[in-house]
Amino acid sequence: MKVVFIGDIVGSIGRDMVFTYISRLKRKYQADVVIANGENAASGRGITKAIFDDLLRSGVDVVTMGNHTWDQKEIYDFIDDTDYLIRPANFSDEAPGKGMTTITKNGVTLSVINLHGRTFLPPHSDPFEKAEQLIEEAAKTSPLIFVDFHAEATSEKIALGWHLDGKASVVVGTHTHVQTADDRILPKGTAYLTDAGMTGPYDEILGMKKEDVIYRFKTNLPVRFEVPKKGRGQLNGLFVEIDDQTGKAISMQRIMINEDHVFES
Ligand SMILES: [Fe+2]
Repeated sequence: MKVVFIGDIVGSIGRDMVFTYISRLKRKYQADVVIANGENAASGRGITKAIFDDLLRSGVDVVTMGNHTWDQKEIYDFIDDTDYLIRPANFSDEAPGKGMTTITKNGVTLSVINLHGRTFLPPHSDPFEKAEQLIEEAAKTSPLIFVDFHAEATSEKIALGWHLDGKASVVVGTHTHVQTADDRILPKGTAYLTDAGMTGPYDEILGMKKEDVIYRFKTNLPVRFEVPKKGRGQLNGLFVEIDDQTGKAISMQRIMINEDHVFES
């Protein structure tokens, strides 16, 4: 199975990048499944039903979330009605929605798991334990397992990657919005990347207007960060090919599209 993952979609510029490139990415990588992190899709804060529907219509199969899951209150009205929007599995048991889903394409089933880090982020239950629990459950259906670990600390992400080596097919980090260059297939067959990077404004700071962020750093005064609607875009992500029988990663390639790294078909 060939999987394309699109890193944190930020605002309308990010969504437009997905709409512009998704067919080309699917063609280039012969992708069976496209997964995207959509927790910043609505102006940087959460996701709406209309945006979720647009992403699915464009060709995204599963949307994962993160610390901004609940920012758009309307998510409470639709998260339980779909199998293709998941939120971190280690949120409270009281939380609506679910943290794992499956998708079957061409007779092959992939489980997708979303987890939340707890270093430099609000505390949730242990993502390591939750991962093991869900992987044990998922492995009864298929050995193909994709994990989006939405976390701040590089070390926590690397730790989960090693912890799940040979158990998950892919462990990819999201949330920090800058793509790391440490893509590798770990010894027991897990494709690992600390952060996929984000999909959104290219000339700003992590997707937020740079003037506001610079002002905040200079003055230490509160500023409401905004996601610009105009400007150049970027798309970042990851491609992984997984063995249908064993669930082990066969190959992987980072995806980076911007005006300095133009898309090559
Ligand atoms: Fe985040």
